[in-house]
Amino acid sequence: MSKRITEKVTWVGKIDWELKSFHGHELSTYKGSSYNAYLVRGNNKTALIDTVWQPFDKEFVTNLKKEIDLHSIDYIIMNHNEIDHSGSLPELMREIPDTPIYCTAKGEGIIRGHYHKDWNFVNVKTGDNLDLGGVMLTFIEASMLHWPDTMFTYMNGGDGEHILFSNDGFGQHYASESLFDDCVDKHEVYHEAMKYYANILNLYSFQVTKKIKEILAMNLPLDMIAPSHGIIWRSNLTEIVETYLKWADAYQEKQVTIFYDTMWNSTRKLAETIAKGIRKERPDVVVKLYNSSMDDKNHIATEVFRAEAVLVGSPTINYGFLYSIGGMLEMIKGLRFKNKKAAAFGSYGWSGGAVKQITEGLKGCGFEIVNDGFETMWVPDESTLAKAEEYGMQFAKSLK
Ligand code: FEO
Repeated sequence: MSKRITEKVTWVGKIDWELKSFHGHELSTYKGSSYNAYLVRGNNKTALIDTVWQPFDKEFVTNLKKEIDLHSIDYIIMNHNEIDHSGSLPELMREIPDTPIYCTAKGEGIIRGHYHKDWNFVNVKTGDNLDLGGVMLTFIEASMLHWPDTMFTYMNGGDGEHILFSNDGFGQHYASESLFDDCVDKHEVYHEAMKYYANILNLYSFQVTKKIKEILAMNLPLDMIAPSHGIIWRSNLTEIVETYLKWADAYQEKQVTIFYDTMWNSTRKLAETIAKGIRKERPDVVVKLYNSSMDDKNHIATEVFRAEAVLVGSPTINYGFLYSIGGMLEMIKGLRFKNKKAAAFGSYGWSGGAVKQITEGLKGCGFEIVNDGFETMWVPDESTLAKAEEYGMQFAKSLK
């Protein structure tokens, strides 16, 4: 169902309460999500900004028809054309096939590549305007936030109607009936916004900083930031913008994140004992432990994002490390977290090798390796655990 969010803007998206994974199974979305589409009505013209994910295409078009005669939509604006936003275009375009689709040149290529249709495309660039009558839309290219086609649309519709439609930027996978940041649990929303940033946008942090500074330098009045997922920011725009600038700037908190996998609990015992040593030396540091074969991979990646240092542990198996460690290292390498110190630990039976290989993997993630790691044969006894605790203390000292 549609929801009026200002006099001139109506939300016509879809709240997806059941969504538990996104990008196939690459990203967990335990709080659901939403695909936000917006109808902007000027005095003379009406524009639709984005659509919703394909499984909801019929529902989207049916609901849109209840809100407006589809033939009264003069323009379709596609800020970004990943399927979660463009997926309902074919269903919509069956009804209004000649309606112009405003998007970047890259966006046109992506839409053509997905749907293979010769629709009426209008390519736009930064600074191009679309006058709806009393409402001016201005396009701002935002390439690689997070796809090459991405753009933002800024709306100047007068008092209380200055809105940045930022698509994935500032988004969160968070289902809410309330739609606005001041109507929901703020901690939950920021948690989801951080998870979204760490897992989707962090790789493009350079572009995030540049784009935010570019927009701030425009000195545009701003009442809301309306992303394409989750809640709309309206209560404290400075807070979320400044938080984004912090996240984009080699973010870290006073936290050590330890993730490990274990077969017969020797590596788990090492993890717990090293954690004890870290806290002994640095009581001001938060230490978090995750078993990467049991915990959510995106949650662990988010906890790596916020850490100043990372410890990764695995026993040696088949001359290498356990499967879940390989997945985590590959994911973290791709996300390009910066400003992290790291080291490895683990147990082995005869050959060893996991610690060395994890250390190489952590180097590949761009982390600063602070030592050669801690490795122990078979099950750690009291004296080995004392050494592991000492190792934790030394690791903590290296963070100062
Ligand atoms: Fe929400 Fe990149 O799509």
